[in-house]
Amino acid sequence: MSHTDPEPTGDKPLSNRLEWLEPRAIDLVFRSAPPDKLFANVVRARRSHRLMATASLEEVARVVRETLKADFVGHGEKQGRKLKAVLSAGALHPVKAVILRRDQRPIVYDDGSDQFLSVKVRNAPAYAAFLQTCDTVLPEADGHWVALIADCRNVRRLYSNHESLVWRDAGAVIQMMALLAEAQELVFCPLGILGGEIIEGLLQEKSDVIPVGVIALGNQARD
Ligand SMILES: Cc1cc2nc3c(=O)[nH]c(=O)nc-3n(C[C@H](O)[C@H](O)[C@H](O)COP(=O)(O)O)c2cc1C
Repeated sequence: MSHTDPEPTGDKPLSNRLEWLEPRAIDLVFRSAPPDKLFANVVRARRSHRLMATASLEEVARVVRETLKADFVGHGEKQGRKLKAVLSAGALHPVKAVILRRDQRPIVYDDGSDQFLSVKVRNAPAYAAFLQTCDTVLPEADGHWVALIADCRNVRRLYSNHESLVWRDAGAVIQMMALLAEAQELVFCPLGILGGEIIEGLLQEKSDVIPVGVIALGNQARD
């Protein structure tokens, strides 16, 4: 962990794509609008909940999309920079999300195309280990796991001592997801683990992608 200030290198970002295995676009229909709650009430009401029931994939995907959707993808001089609800150093937005549930194909949100992609697992034991670790940390959370991963290539290219920028970006994503989950009346809990097995489970080696956290998202459990 670097405690040294990041400094711009003067380099320009490259358009990076992650090498997912057999990605297939899936159509999610976001039927009903989320409840229109006052922001002040959302901020006050937010809490971490460890006991949860399964929400629909659409409900979970909507929180992920609202957090990570790029309303503007930079062109020309701004190539590689994005505008989102969540903030990011240099507008590089290295943090990506993968939605997971046991026995289902993982679903990646592609913020460049605003699409959800179901992808094939490359390494089944690593993938199973990820799910097992999440179950151990939050055994009462019967929701979806959202793995947060950071593509460090452009942040590394544009800043020396780039690591702290990535971690601060990840914190911003977790906070924004917590608020959007609350606004949508879903329940939410961050996990202290990083979820490193997901990288090995889904991506090629040496991808310069690091795990930056896991979230549980679901519905309120009823007795
Ligand atoms: C980075 C991070 C990691 C966390 N890890 C866990 C965890 O592993 N298990 C858990 O039950 N809660 C975890 N939490 C939730 C905190 O315990 C929770 O936010 C704290 O108790 C305050 O409660 P509140 O979120 O309801 O205000 C984590 C929170 C953060 C920000």
